[in-house]
Amino acid sequence: PRTGPAYDPAALARRARAQLLPEHYDFIAGGAGEERALRENEDAFARLALLPRVLRGGPGSGTRVTVLGREWPAPLFVSPTAFHRLAHPDGELATARAAAATGTPLVTGMAATTAVADVVAAARARNPEAVVWFQLYLQPEHEVTAELVRRAERAGCSALVVTVDSPVFGSRTRDLRNGFHDLPPGLAAENMRDLPGAAPGGTRDIAMWPAGWDDLRRLRDLTDLPLVLKGVLHPADARTAVEQGVDALLVSNHGGRQLDAAPAAVEALPAVAGAVAGRIPVLVDGGVRRGTDIALALALGAVAAGVGRPVLWALATGGEDGVTELLSTLRADFAQVLALCGGHRPGDLTADQVVARGFPYH
Ligand code: FNR
Repeated sequence: PRTGPAYDPAALARRARAQLLPEHYDFIAGGAGEERALRENEDAFARLALLPRVLRGGPGSGTRVTVLGREWPAPLFVSPTAFHRLAHPDGELATARAAAATGTPLVTGMAATTAVADVVAAARARNPEAVVWFQLYLQPEHEVTAELVRRAERAGCSALVVTVDSPVFGSRTRDLRNGFHDLPPGLAAENMRDLPGAAPGGTRDIAMWPAGWDDLRRLRDLTDLPLVLKGVLHPADARTAVEQGVDALLVSNHGGRQLDAAPAAVEALPAVAGAVAGRIPVLVDGGVRRGTDIALALALGAVAAGVGRPVLWALATGGEDGVTELLSTLRADFAQVLALCGGHRPGDLTADQVVARGFPYH
């Protein structure tokens, strides 16, 4: 693995801040309430240390992982974030091209400012094997959910990520202070256009409502695509999800944007992974900034880790090239950390290698 130019995630965020309108920067950077959950996502990783193993010998075999039957070049994916065209005029198209060029799976969202069909087309033009998943919120009207699913299927998405941590919208302190609630003219949530109940040519608002397991079963009956539940933090919900035939879990506190008292994603991970007990893959996002964070997530039971905000900062500062640089740097950084931990493949990282910082650790 290359050592490359110094990568400084905090400096990347600062450079993005200088590029963006303050209310747009705050929309991306901010979280709910006092932003405890937001801060904890990063701080929790910083409280953990990795115990490297030594003299394990053997040739390096790389960073590849298999997730839902597809091989990924590294245990890293792009988490769904809204409104990429706030960050850069090329928006989701640039993100999709960069993700595809680096082989990084992309979760494009219901709140994208580019329609899912265009996102997948841009990714596939760069790399015919590109993996794109579609994130959705179940909608109160079944025919709206059904139409979104059909669009994702037609576009060529290979999984649906159902975000279940948003029965109501979180209180985003900075947005409330800034009075930021609408996209600027010319930008819209394009996946919400021309849905049942929308004005002709117009978009519907994304509804946040308390969906139930019954609604998830209806979605299960609607599609053969694998279902990934995003926002599961309680081990009992993880168990139910497995029983209900969910195909994967994404442990997440929504980047600290929903329940401010939620634990850091990486702190919730071990109990969820324990409840799942290997029956389905567990993914995680929130506060992943470096290869060490990816390694910690894997050691604690995740098969891969997602990045949200850093992608938007890279997009704001460097467009497609910026995102390509970020994703390849993160992969190289993880490869180096894996080797330093004495691992030859991602699965070599184990929970006994994770200790809390401070003394004594056992
Ligand atoms: C998000 N996230 C998110 N999640 C989701 O399921 N649907 C969505 O529409 C959005 N939108 C969104 C917008 C912005 C600006 C951010 C920052 C985040 C949450 C996202 O998928 C992910 O869980 C977190 O961003 C991961 O944390 P980090 O990497 O940003 O710390």
